[in-house]
Amino acid sequence: MALPVELAQTIIDPKAYSQRELVDEAFRQIRATAPLDKAELDGFEPFWVVTRHADIKDIERQPDIFHNGDKSTFLTNIEGNARVQMLTGGEPNLIRSLVSVDGKEHKDLRGIVFPHITPRAIKPLEEQIRAIAREFVDHMLSFDGQCDFAADVAFLYPLRVIMTVLGVPQEDEPFMLKLTQELFNNADPELNRARAELSPEDMLKSLWETTMELENYFAAVTKKFRENPTSHINSLIANAKIDGEYLNHRQMMGYYIIAATAGHDTTSNTTAGAMWALAEKPEMLARMKADPSLINAFVEESIRWEVPVKHFMRSAVADCEIGGQQIKAGDWLMLSYQSANRDESVWADPFEFRIDRESNPQIAFGYGVHVCLGQHLARMEMRILWEELFKRLESVELAGKGERTISNFVCGPKHVPIRFTAN
Ligand code: HEM
Repeated sequence: MALPVELAQTIIDPKAYSQRELVDEAFRQIRATAPLDKAELDGFEPFWVVTRHADIKDIERQPDIFHNGDKSTFLTNIEGNARVQMLTGGEPNLIRSLVSVDGKEHKDLRGIVFPHITPRAIKPLEEQIRAIAREFVDHMLSFDGQCDFAADVAFLYPLRVIMTVLGVPQEDEPFMLKLTQELFNNADPELNRARAELSPEDMLKSLWETTMELENYFAAVTKKFRENPTSHINSLIANAKIDGEYLNHRQMMGYYIIAATAGHDTTSNTTAGAMWALAEKPEMLARMKADPSLINAFVEESIRWEVPVKHFMRSAVADCEIGGQQIKAGDWLMLSYQSANRDESVWADPFEFRIDRESNPQIAFGYGVHVCLGQHLARMEMRILWEELFKRLESVELAGKGERTISNFVCGPKHVPIRFTAN
C-alpha cells in the first residue's frame, strides 16, 4: 500500500509549509494510519515517508545501512536529480557537504570542526555573544514599540554570531544573508534569486548560480586564511589536511557553504518562531522574567516547535526492517523531522507550545553521526538573546499576521509583526 496521494502531495508542497497547520494535519493523519509508508508521486522516485520519532532514531543510528550521499539528501524530482548529476559530473548533490557524505570521509571532515564547537570549546565565546545580543536588543527597542521581529532581529542576530565565529567580516553579512535565503528559499518568490515564481528548471539554474557565487567568494577566503591562519572556523577548513592533503575543492566549498548557511538560517527561523509563540502566549514572558532558568525550556521547546529543517533523505544500502516495514537496498527515505517532533507517543500534547514539560526529547537537530554540528552554539546563542531581551521586555503581542516561507526544506517564519513595551 502507498500513502494516499493527497496526503503525500501536501507533505512535499512548499506552499503547504507556509500554512503549517496543513502539513501538521497531514502528518497527524499519516502517523495515525500509515506511519511508515511509500509516497508514489508523478515525477518522483518512490520514497518512504518516516514520520515517527522512534523510526527516525532507528534509521539514524545505522549510518552503515542508511547512507546520506548515494542519492539526493533533500527531496528532488527525477528530472531535477538528472540535471544535478549533469552539473556535478555524476554526483547526486549540488554541494558536497557534511550532510551528503558517509563513512570515513564524513568522520574525517566532521573531525575538523567538531572539537572546536563542543559546549566546553564555545564557552569562552559567551561574553562576545552576549555583547552581540545586547546590540540587537538595543536595535529592536529602537523601533519604538513595533517591529517585524523576523526581519529586524531574528534574521540578523544569528547571522552576526555565526559570521563572527567563522571569521567573515561584518560588511559581507548582507551578501551571506541574501545568498543563504536564495539557497534555502528557492520556491519563495519573495526570497529567491529571481524574486519570481520559478519553473523547476529555472529553480535549479538559480541554485547553481548561487552556489557558484558562494564558491567565488570562498575561493578568496581560502587564500586569506592560508596566508594568515587564525582560530576562526573558516581558517580551520582552509588549513585542514586529511591524510596529509588539503580538502579537495568540492569538500572545502561544501564545508564553507554549510557552515555559513545552515549556521544562521535554522537558528533565525527558530528565534522568529519562538517570538511568534511568545506573542501568542504572553503569559510565558512573566514566568520567564520571574524565573530566568525557564529560558532553557523555552529554547528547547522553540526548537521542537519550529523544526527549521523539515526533512533529510537517506538511501538504504541493504535490506532491513524498520517500524514493521521491509526496506529494500536502494530504497529512498524521507526523514520528516517536522512529523517526528509532533509524535503523540512522545508528547501528550504535541500541538501546544509549553515551557513546563518534564522532558523534551526533541529531534529537530537530527540524531546519530550526522546530528547537528552546531547544536550547542545554536542553543547558547538563543538562550543569551532571550536572557538579554527578557530583562527589558515588559509585554509583547502580535501586531498583524505572521507569514511563513514557501519551502519544504529549511524554512520558518519570514515576517513576525509584533507590538511591545520595554524598559
Ligand atoms: C536551531 C538551529 C539548528 C537546527 C534545528 C539544525 C538542524 C540540523 C539538522 C536536522 C541536521 C541534520 C542532522 C541529521 O542528519 O541527523 C543538521 C546538521 C548540521 N548542522 Fe545544524 N541546525 C541548527 C543550527 C546549526 C548551526 C548554528 C550550525 C553551525 C555551526 C549548524 C551546522 C550544521 C552542520 C555542519 C550539519 C551537518 C552535520 C553532519 O552531517 O555531520 N547547524 N542541523
